[in-house]
Amino acid sequence: MFSEYSDNLGLIASVLGIFGAGVATHSFLNSRKTDHLKQELEQYKEEIDRLSSNLEAESGATQDSFTQSSEVWLKNNKNPVTFPDYASRKHKYSIPTIVISNLKGGVGKTTVSTNLATTIASKGKRVLFLDLDWQGSATRAFSTLGRLTERRSDIDQVFAETANGILIKSLARTGYDLPQGLSFVPTYKQFAAKENECMIKWLKGSYEFDAHYLLSKALLDPVIHEEYDAIVIDTPPRITTGLVNALTCATHLIIPTILDDISAEAAESYISSIERFKVYNSSLRISKIIGCMTYNGTKLNQTEENARKSIIRRAKSENLQTNTLIANQWIPRRSAIQQAAGNHLAVMRNKEIREIFDNIYQELDLFPQ
Ligand SMILES: Nc1ncnc2c1ncn2[C@@H]1O[C@H](COP(=O)(O)OP(=O)(O)OP(=O)(O)O)[C@@H](O)[C@H]1O
Ligand SMILES: [Mg+2]
Repeated sequence: MFSEYSDNLGLIASVLGIFGAGVATHSFLNSRKTDHLKQELEQYKEEIDRLSSNLEAESGATQDSFTQSSEVWLKNNKNPVTFPDYASRKHKYSIPTIVISNLKGGVGKTTVSTNLATTIASKGKRVLFLDLDWQGSATRAFSTLGRLTERRSDIDQVFAETANGILIKSLARTGYDLPQGLSFVPTYKQFAAKENECMIKWLKGSYEFDAHYLLSKALLDPVIHEEYDAIVIDTPPRITTGLVNALTCATHLIIPTILDDISAEAAESYISSIERFKVYNSSLRISKIIGCMTYNGTKLNQTEENARKSIIRRAKSENLQTNTLIANQWIPRRSAIQQAAGNHLAVMRNKEIREIFDNIYQELDLFPQ
């Protein structure tokens, strides 16, 4: 079993560890289901969590770490197996699904996703927000507003073959001080173990379809189509079960980035890599790249301008349409955003930030007439 996958898995030690632990665990359980082995399974789970943390620590968004860890998720990607009625459900039930992603940490993903989701809701749209980062930063902000005191990871239930729109609707929280029209599904660190479990199950061939489509299967559902106008998904700065599922669902991919040399390099690398995921989602497109934490509200400084040009050069070399790719509206460094982090949302309290996100909303043109 191990050698069957070793070509793909030999690239990154931590992922190898996760895989090795999982396969060994499952092989044992298949042969003799004893209490002793179940205990061993628990130990392996702990090991998976530990290795998963290592993987996170490596998420410096270098090109190598992206390429290497994504190899696992691009395994057998020639003919991805979708769930049976994928094409017809995609045609019938797809709604704007906005994924905010960048493999570089701390560039503004959660700031953009939470404030943008709130802005979309402020336009009278019904928004479903999914937090796919087990750090739960978005969950924290929305939980404060929704007065959810308990740390829950309900998103785990969404990553099951049986998950559907009714389940998601029952898990989605609304009310109290949450923006009118916005619902969110809470995520917490247990989700990391759930993601590993899904990956191992998939590598073992235990699913009937590619684990890339778990979330798509749950979201492409008449109930979601009826209940919501848009879905906004926040993602972690690393290749995870959650991220690849988000990319498979995405109708609009937004890449927030700081406009400095290191962040531009990471964004460029990500732009190129996105092409490789299109085998799972042929309609995956980068909708906007948004400059975050700029020094000035009205003019980019020289470093930022250079970074912007560099990103455009890479996008051109990937044959992307570049004239509207980088949002005209960037998001300057503002204490209103910093102070809001994890507790509330800047767009709800600050006029300047609200106008910034209104402009981004306009540029995205999510609901063309
Ligand atoms: N425009 C801004 N002005 C001031 N602070 C900002 C701005 N944008 C983001 N921040 C702050 O920078 C930090 C990182 O932002 P954020 O959490 O949105 O990044 P992220 O990409 O989601 O990070 P991670 O990769 O860890 O998930 C947060 O403390 C946030 O409040
Ligand atoms: Mg984040």
